[in-house]
Amino acid sequence: ETEKLALPVGTTLDRFIKKKQDDFPFASGELSQLLRDIALAGKIINREINRSGLLGIEGAFGAQNVQGEEQQKLDVIADIRFMRALRNGGEVCAVVSEEQNEIIDLDNPNGRYIIAMDPLDGSSNIDVNVSIGTIFSIYRRLSPVGGPVQMEDVLQPGVAQVAAGYLLYGSSTMLVYTTGRGVNGFTYEAGLGEFFLSHQNIQTPLDGKIFSINEGAYNVFEPAVKKYIEDCKELRFSGRYIGSLVADFHRNLFKGGIYIYPRTDTAPEGKLRLLYEANALAFIVEQAGGKASNGKTRILELEPKELHQRTPLFIGSKKMVEKAEGCF
Ligand code: AHG
Ligand code: MN
Ligand code: MN
Ligand code: MN
Repeated sequence: ETEKLALPVGTTLDRFIKKKQDDFPFASGELSQLLRDIALAGKIINREINRSGLLGIEGAFGAQNVQGEEQQKLDVIADIRFMRALRNGGEVCAVVSEEQNEIIDLDNPNGRYIIAMDPLDGSSNIDVNVSIGTIFSIYRRLSPVGGPVQMEDVLQPGVAQVAAGYLLYGSSTMLVYTTGRGVNGFTYEAGLGEFFLSHQNIQTPLDGKIFSINEGAYNVFEPAVKKYIEDCKELRFSGRYIGSLVADFHRNLFKGGIYIYPRTDTAPEGKLRLLYEANALAFIVEQAGGKASNGKTRILELEPKELHQRTPLFIGSKKMVEKAEGCF
């Protein structure tokens, strides 16, 4: 009976991390603890999102972030929750976030890790009960431990990521992450307060039939992007666009597809941020057998020059991304 119903074996995130301790560069288990801290922050944010309509934390916060976007209350809350969990954890010396102008020093002088994060992804969906997420990248600090954190510590290319992942607050809440040895997904069991391994060694289809792009800006896309979209339509692919990068990415990861955020007239380098959004998902998609590009160059090899740098993004099934690149 158990086999027929495919009941989960019940591996908790904690147990999984312990078992995979060998994956981690430091036997000290610091990275393991860091992943647990992130999971904890995720649980807290998940709870706040679930009850946001009751807690009175919907709507605009009343300030703009450095991206020039209207911050939502939950953007700010998620940012605070993560900072707090990472500060208390002690493994992280500094954080850079979509919602913060500058590097945040966490006063953990012995912390060996740097985090880049998008605390809440999918602003337009926060208040309307549509899936949103959290995206994070983990880097090893380059400057000596004990001294001040340097710009070079945070401006590392995506290939230097030690681990990356996302939380998806969707019809179920999931944590998906990689440490560079495959991608694993965990589903949150709110009653037990635990993430359980539910999607082991995720591989994305080599090709797909879903394209995800905000076509409202079609008229100002580059000719190569227009051509690729026309090809997708010619082939009668499905257009799917939630407007939360994490959610669109997650669907395409499992079903096969491509997500595109191209250059537009108002966003000459695209909208998405290299450090907080593109790099983490690029690491994950490559680990799952997919591909991520800015149209010409592999995302993970782009050299960041500034914290809030943006990049066009073509990400998903390998064949689809290659075909899109071929249009340039
Ligand atoms: P964020 O909410 O972190 O600012 O990110 C929003 C991003 C991304 O989640 C989404 O795919 C994209 O913005 C949607 O932008 P458009 O509304 O321009 O399509
Ligand atoms: Mn985002
Ligand atoms: Mn965000
Ligand atoms: Mn934003």
